[in-house]
Amino acid sequence: MRRFLSVSIISFIAIFIAACSGNNGSNETTSEGSGDSDTPIIIKFSHVTAIDSVKGQAAERFAELVEEKTNGKAKVEVYPSSQLYGDNDELDALISGNVHMIAPSVTKMVKLDPRWQYVDMPYLFEDQEHTRSFFESDIAQTILNSEQLASNDIMGLAFWENGFKHFMNNKHPLKDPSDFEGLKFRAQAGKVLEAQFEALGAGSATIAFGETYAALQQGTVDGTENTFNNIDTQKYQEVQEYLTISEHGRLDYAIFVNKSFWEGMPEDIRQQVEEALEEATELEWQLAADDNASSLENIKESGQVEVLELTEAEREAIQKALQPVYEEFTEVITEELIEGIRALK
Ligand code: LMR
Repeated sequence: MRRFLSVSIISFIAIFIAACSGNNGSNETTSEGSGDSDTPIIIKFSHVTAIDSVKGQAAERFAELVEEKTNGKAKVEVYPSSQLYGDNDELDALISGNVHMIAPSVTKMVKLDPRWQYVDMPYLFEDQEHTRSFFESDIAQTILNSEQLASNDIMGLAFWENGFKHFMNNKHPLKDPSDFEGLKFRAQAGKVLEAQFEALGAGSATIAFGETYAALQQGTVDGTENTFNNIDTQKYQEVQEYLTISEHGRLDYAIFVNKSFWEGMPEDIRQQVEEALEEATELEWQLAADDNASSLENIKESGQVEVLELTEAEREAIQKALQPVYEEFTEVITEELIEGIRALK
């Protein structure tokens, strides 16, 4: 009997330890280190673009600034290029606390709140200044700190910029809505982008960013849309023949953190990390402007892609063809948000 009891107790302890240690996908929603320089707080920051992209460079600088400002008491580990998590799982990883910070293209937040697709509404933003006034507006803060995010243990800290998207494909030049007919494009996420391509008579498939180059190369899709900097740093010019400077929608980011993790950090360290983020954000905005411009030059100089500029009339015809997207989605995105953005022009 005694032997039976001791075996049972040992088995119970073994199962308990295994259950705890095998919990690899478990939450890490409290900061692990104590916040001194021997056991620093580790902030895992996952993103999907290349290290030399606008977002990649700003993330690296942010990590340096955190190290400097906290005197090594907090460290940011940056995981670029979907190394740790790709499009399909980085948000889930943030919610469960397996990473602490992400900077997704905001349309990918559609899973939690469909209003984030404001960014895809055709020709909603006039220029970079308009986008920045939105980032700094009260209306942007409401979506960044929404109840939908808080109830998933997430909070938004800042907007990061990328730029206007442009259409590419490997079949023929895209100048008129009729040129899109029958083509299939890669889309990031959500129903608005699906409707955008549909309005142009094209099909679309949601493909993770990390898998898009291969999908273009293998002909799974004929084309894609992205910013000059993403096109250039992903080398889409190698697998696409035509680029139309269409500026039909935006691709921008927001920085999201796991709320429990964030609030669990000692206040002084959190403040220093906030300061680092503010500086990194300023740099990111500058990089977005500079690097998108230099990426367009790189793309042109590569000689691999025919770059087309639209006349005013061609641009208007595309804009008109995309109008049904507003009829279908204004209610989802909300009139308040769309009109609020328009009012900032
Ligand atoms: C995309 O999927 O095209 C973008 O979201 C990638 C990025 O993060 O810029």
